[in-house]
Amino acid sequence: MALHPSPRSDDLAKKFAEANEHWNLEKLYRDIANAKQQERRRQCKQLTPTEKACLRGLLSGYSPTEIATELNREPGGLRVELCRGLYRYIETVTDMYIKTYSNVSKLLENAGYKHQQKYRDVTCNVSTIQNPKSKIQNRVDWGEAIDVSIFYGRTDELTKLQQWIEQDKCRLITLLGMGGIGKTALSVKLAQLVQEGFEFVIWQSLRNSPPPPHIF
Ligand SMILES: Nc1ncnc2c1ncn2[C@@H]1O[C@H](COP(=O)(O)OP(=O)(O)O)[C@@H](O)[C@H]1O
Ligand SMILES: [Mg+2]
Repeated sequence: MALHPSPRSDDLAKKFAEANEHWNLEKLYRDIANAKQQERRRQCKQLTPTEKACLRGLLSGYSPTEIATELNREPGGLRVELCRGLYRYIETVTDMYIKTYSNVSKLLENAGYKHQQKYRDVTCNVSTIQNPKSKIQNRVDWGEAIDVSIFYGRTDELTKLQQWIEQDKCRLITLLGMGGIGKTALSVKLAQLVQEGFEFVIWQSLRNSPPPPHIF
């Protein structure tokens, strides 16, 4: 007798499918399921369709409350479930502590589960890329942004800055410190991390206050 997935698990599999574009999901599912198996000390060879959907949602930038709404679940219950389950397994996989849900995608990116993004040559002009979350085209111009393809540490700083922008909707952030300390590199890395939440990303030095027609 052939078993077919129930309509519900079929339906769940379609939620947050955009994560497929950016993440090595098969490997992630495997590694997280291994961690689950270790923790639960019983045979559970796979993640449940709900766990997979939550993972894709987190990786696509949704909050647990937004994910709960999408999955028709009660937000409080889902948050507790995540804290007791998925977050613990991800901590095992990454060997890092999850402070907030917004940490999850960064930890997994640092652990190498995200497909390498191909940043264009810094001299290229405005071009379009697909924004996976909102399904709108966003326009990016990295101008003379420095290359941060080799970038170490600063995970706490990046988490905090990303939170200020994405959750607190902070519109102006000033990075202060002596020359060479890494302000510019940090700001480029941050802009790359949050770019998908914006329709336009323009990297432009405001040194000498050039008038707007020179900037845009
Ligand atoms: N986290 C980091 N990982 C690797 N290299 C870095 C990092 N932060 C800064 N650098 C490098 O150090 C140099 C100085 O950094 P920069 O961002 O220009 O400092 P600032 O803007 O404070 O003058 C640059 O070559 C930059 O690429
Ligand atoms: Mg600088």
